[in-house]
Amino acid sequence: MLQTYEQAEKKLKALGQEHLLRYYAELSEDGKAQLLSQIDELDEVYLDAFSKKDSLSLPEQKEITPIDVMCAAEIESRREEFLARGISAAKEGKIAAVLLAGGMGTRLGADGPKGTVDIGVTRHVYIFQRIFENLSESADAAGRSLHLFIMTSESNHDETVSFLKEHRYFGYDPEYVHFYRQEMAPAVDRSGRIILESRGRIASSPNGNGGWFRSLLKAGYGSLIEDQGIEWLNVFSVDNVLQRICDPVFFGAVLESGLPSGSKVVAKSSPEERVGVMCNKGGRPAVVEYYELTDSMRYEKRPDGSYAYYYGVILNYLFRIRDLEEADGKGMPIHFADKSIAAWDPVSGQTVKSKEPNGWKFEYFIFDILNSLDGCLPFEVIRDREFAPVKNASGPDSPETARELLRKNGIEI
Ligand code: UD1
Repeated sequence: MLQTYEQAEKKLKALGQEHLLRYYAELSEDGKAQLLSQIDELDEVYLDAFSKKDSLSLPEQKEITPIDVMCAAEIESRREEFLARGISAAKEGKIAAVLLAGGMGTRLGADGPKGTVDIGVTRHVYIFQRIFENLSESADAAGRSLHLFIMTSESNHDETVSFLKEHRYFGYDPEYVHFYRQEMAPAVDRSGRIILESRGRIASSPNGNGGWFRSLLKAGYGSLIEDQGIEWLNVFSVDNVLQRICDPVFFGAVLESGLPSGSKVVAKSSPEERVGVMCNKGGRPAVVEYYELTDSMRYEKRPDGSYAYYYGVILNYLFRIRDLEEADGKGMPIHFADKSIAAWDPVSGQTVKSKEPNGWKFEYFIFDILNSLDGCLPFEVIRDREFAPVKNASGPDSPETARELLRKNGIEI
């Protein structure tokens, strides 16, 4: 913890960011302490990446090629074998789940954490509830509780914890539920100067879902993982109300493959669908995110007329922990998102949100780790059975489309 103004000033001078202390003298004692603590936590890795931004944003030179997927038909024919292997490893406690719930849920327009949204019609069906119900199915099959780590962010942590406590973890054993906060990244203006959101507060946002493993270890859960003999983590997004969690068939298939990771994929509904696309990059597994996909990749066909990049990730991955520990040290790429960032306006004495994008936020993406691993099993799931994302307030991927899919799967809502 940085104790003094002088120490903070020294750190900022070295980074060319002294302006963050401009209003220091005007702050209350509490305000001063909070600003010093934010400066202490400031990770220069983002500023460093920003300074190299222009060279980094050149298209990656690694060759992109299609990847082989384990198709649903093959999975079905080997189902019993995979199931038995997965259940036996889960019984030994080798798998735990990680829920990524640090996102802001801006597109959905919800006030609180996304998981607290109720999509029920005749009864309450909270998004978190669906997650606990899905995890419980696998825990029941394994005959034991499975650990669940929930990653939150600074802005939704308290609300998430109190909501789940209030709802008694939807019947799940609280001893197996662990919370941790993801790290924050500062936001910068066009010239790379960190933005002050108010006189005593640095503008910052969650550092993307790729920071999940580092934050998990930083929160001190490494020893619990080791003591409990957990070897694999199933990491998944908060917004898919149909996904299977710690699915023993998926787990068994990845164990059988001998590969260090697995990714659930669906056949895309159209080449334009907004999902990351699974591929090989430089001979290793990778995902190209939907807004980075070029048209030539989007519409490329194989000789048989099928789309070459046809499988999209649903954000449900399995990772072998020992491989993550090795790969994490190699450093993950940082993505830059062009955003409208609320900034302190000294003239009006107010925080002002510009209508146009005025700066950059920094994010790590979870799938970037795949490219440092020795392999990944893309595992096809049937979208109507396992992919019901709730992302938008209306239209595609909304509560309405999710309700329809839940009904189709016989889940009362
Ligand atoms: C995500 C995937 C995309 C995939 C799609 C499937 C990434 C980067 N993108 O897109 O490849 O095809 O889901 O539905 O993985 N989150 C955090 N902290 C953050 C940011 C996000 O925990 O700082 C969590 C969110 O709470 C959510 C998940 O990550 O659970 C996905 O976040 P979002 O940014 O909404 O990704 P999508 O654009 O939906």
